Amino acid sequence: MDHFDIIDGELHSEQVSLEAIAEEVGTPVYVYSAATLSRHARVMKEALASLDDPLVAYAVKANPNPAVLAILAREGLGADIVSIGEYRAARAAGMAPGDILFSGVGKTASEMAEALEGGLLQFNLESVQEAVTLSAVARDLGKTAPVALRINPDVEAGTHAKITTGTADNKFGLPIGDAMDAFAMLRGLPNIDVTGVTVHIGSQLTSLEPLETAFRALGGLIDELRRQDFALRLADLGGGLGVPYGPGQPEPPTPADYGAMVGRVTANWGLRLAFEPGRLISGNAGVLLTRVVRIKPGEHHPWLIVDAAMNDLMRPALYDAYHHIEVVRPGGGRMTVNVVGPVCESGDTFAMAREMDFAGEGELVVFRTAGAYGAAMSSGYNSRPITPEVLVDGDRWALVRQRLDLASAAALPLPEWLHGRH
Ligand code: LLP
Repeated sequence: MDHFDIIDGELHSEQVSLEAIAEEVGTPVYVYSAATLSRHARVMKEALASLDDPLVAYAVKANPNPAVLAILAREGLGADIVSIGEYRAARAAGMAPGDILFSGVGKTASEMAEALEGGLLQFNLESVQEAVTLSAVARDLGKTAPVALRINPDVEAGTHAKITTGTADNKFGLPIGDAMDAFAMLRGLPNIDVTGVTVHIGSQLTSLEPLETAFRALGGLIDELRRQDFALRLADLGGGLGVPYGPGQPEPPTPADYGAMVGRVTANWGLRLAFEPGRLISGNAGVLLTRVVRIKPGEHHPWLIVDAAMNDLMRPALYDAYHHIEVVRPGGGRMTVNVVGPVCESGDTFAMAREMDFAGEGELVVFRTAGAYGAAMSSGYNSRPITPEVLVDGDRWALVRQRLDLASAAALPLPEWLHGRH
């Protein structure tokens, strides 16, 4: 459920008119609803309420806006981070060091050192080689690093290939068959404390089955580790639960169904559980608000050209992702159009042959479910500015990231040797 509704014929975010935001900030602009973010955080926590002290660590990569993180910190969420930039953002937002998990295959020694000094719950490591580096870093700092190994259970997640992470052809985790040997090696490394195991098989999962298969495989490994006297404390079950993207799209299981499955599968694990939801928390809490630049006639359907583009919302170009498109002031009948942005690539296409409410030149439309992996993945391609972000809370709103002209922000004077060159 989200808080984007029609009030007096016009789409609002909570009590705020999207037209008013577009008027003041310009378009395109991302708009987030604080009430929706809080609601999703609470729904996830309620779904896991029967577990003993679960940790919900928001996957910061989904939407790292400081205002978003601050709301989630207030809801008591921790953070799953994949870079030192995300670590700093989580800490600045008020997330406790003891609620931070550090994931990712390519952590550098300097990132490890900063996180270890600043404090964290656990490094989720993806290889023995990574553990060797961390051991040296920890020894130099005179500290002990809490670590989990990420297991790759070779389970097909049933989602888009580019967001599948738990098969043998993905770079992530250790093959489960190699796990016992890897754990044994970790035990021999100085300044390493083996605290847990972790698994994450992909994103936008619309069935619980692959998750259950992966968790059962992890359960088998936990048993074996116990028999070898590893004193594990935490099993991190990753993120990945899908969200509804709109009409005609797969309906994912509810967080409550997910929580019930987890409760069943992990009943006798005797470990604290952690979760890393990203999309579930922020996906439906945001829209990308854009204005129709013009309608160009087309061979099969007219081209509805909007002022947002693939640089603002990459998901359709990258994953053929569906984003529901709504008109801010509906009522002008229906139309079937190809919805595209101004970028000079054919991939800059949001939807082909989409039947939707009529929107004419100058009118506002939104791309729904843009709160996760939207602004987070934006770029300045075609010398387009980075799109600003707005947070709505009840009847108030604020700009929480300004429009950024990368070309001028990153510009430097030309090197002298380039002057006067013919
Ligand atoms: N934990 C780990 C280790 C991850 O790699 C991810 C996502 C998550 C948690 C959060 O997954 P979520 O709950 O959001 O599904 N850009 C893609 C999604 C990439 C997901 C990367 N990893 C998209 O727009 O669909």
